[in-house]
Amino acid sequence: MLVCPACRAVVHGLFTAHDLDANLRCVGCSCEHPRLTVGEREIAVVWPDSAAATALVTTCADMLDHVAAGDSPEPDTFAAHALDHLATYAPAHWGAWADVDASLDLPRPVPFPWLASWLGDVDMLPAGPILALGCGPGGDLPALAATGREVWTLDPDLAALAYVAQVAAGGAVALPVRSAAHRTVVRTLRVPADVQRALAEVQLVCGTALDPPFRADTFAAIVAINVVDSVPDPWLLLQQAEAMLVDGGVLLLAAPWNWTDSVTPPACRLDRALPPEAPYREGMEALLTGRVVPTFLDALTLERSADGIPWSLTVHPRYTARYRMHVLRLRKSGGMLLAGP
Ligand SMILES: C[S@@+](CC[C@H](N)C(=O)[O-])C[C@H]1O[C@@H](n2cnc3c(N)ncnc32)[C@H](O)[C@@H]1O
Repeated sequence: MLVCPACRAVVHGLFTAHDLDANLRCVGCSCEHPRLTVGEREIAVVWPDSAAATALVTTCADMLDHVAAGDSPEPDTFAAHALDHLATYAPAHWGAWADVDASLDLPRPVPFPWLASWLGDVDMLPAGPILALGCGPGGDLPALAATGREVWTLDPDLAALAYVAQVAAGGAVALPVRSAAHRTVVRTLRVPADVQRALAEVQLVCGTALDPPFRADTFAAIVAINVVDSVPDPWLLLQQAEAMLVDGGVLLLAAPWNWTDSVTPPACRLDRALPPEAPYREGMEALLTGRVVPTFLDALTLERSADGIPWSLTVHPRYTARYRMHVLRLRKSGGMLLAGP
C-alpha cells in the first residue's frame, strides 16, 4: 500500500513509484524508512527525506520518555512544542473519557458528532480504504473505523500519532491538559473497549499529504477536518487528495477557513482566487469543484454542504476558541460507477 516518496519521479515523461516492503524498505531505491514503536504498535514514518524522518523518530521517542517520566521537556524544544500541541488537541478529542475536574473547564462532548452521517452510507462508497488526513490525536478515527473499512492515517505530527497508539493499546492513558497558558497537568483517560478495539485496527502513517506515500486512485474516502487551512500549500494538498481518491470516492472536508499567515502564506490562501465581493461559502464551493480555476479540482462535485458547524478548542481554562466550520462532501467524478447498496 505504501510507496516511497524519496525516489518517486517522472522519468522520460513516465511517472514511476516503487512500493515499500513490509520492513518499509523501498523495492526501487532501497531507502529504509523508519518507524516509531509505541508499546506493541508501529507507526510508519514515511517522508521524502528519510534521514529527517529518522531524526524525528529519535526526538519523538525522547519526548515520550519525558512524558512517561512525568518531567517537562526543556522549553522551546521540539519536545516542548509537541507536548503543547498535544495538550491542546488531545483533550478536545478524548476529554469525553477523561477524569478531568471542573477547574479545568474542559468541554467534554465526543468530537465531530456529525462525522458518521456526513460520510454517508458506506455501501455507497466505492471499494477501498479510508484515509484520515491530518487526524492529529485521532478523535475522528472511531467513527471512520465503525464503517468497517480499513482506515489509514497521514499526519506529520508523530507525537499525535504516538498518542493514538497509546489510546489504542487500552487501559489508563496519561492525558496532558493545560491548566493555564503555560502549565500542563496530567489526567487519566480510559476509552471504552469498543473505541479501543476500533483504534487498534487503524494503520498509522506519519508523513505529509503534500508529498504523500500513497499511490493515486487508492482511497474510497478521505476525511480532512481542520487541515486545509493548516498547511502552507492548500492547493497542492487538495490536488493530492483528489488524486488519491478512486473514481466515485468521497472527499469530506471541514474547515473554518481560519487562515493564518504564519502557516499559509497569504499568496497561497485558497480565497485569493475569489473576487473579494463573492459570498465566501458559495465562492469556496465553486473553487473546490473546479469552477473558478481551470483544471483545479475539476473532478469533484459537491454532494452536500453546511456552514456554521461548531467546533471548539479549549486551549486552557481561560481561553476557548470557537470555530464555525464549513463542511463539504465532494465526490470524485465517476459517480456512475458507484456500487449500489
Ligand atoms: C488544526 S489541526 C486539526 C487536527 C484534527 N483534525 C482536528 O480537527 O482537531 C491540523 C492537523 O493537520 C496536520 N497537518 C499539518 N500539515 C499537514 C500535512 N502536510 N499533511 C497532513 N496533515 C497535516 C497537523 O499535524 C494537525 O494534526
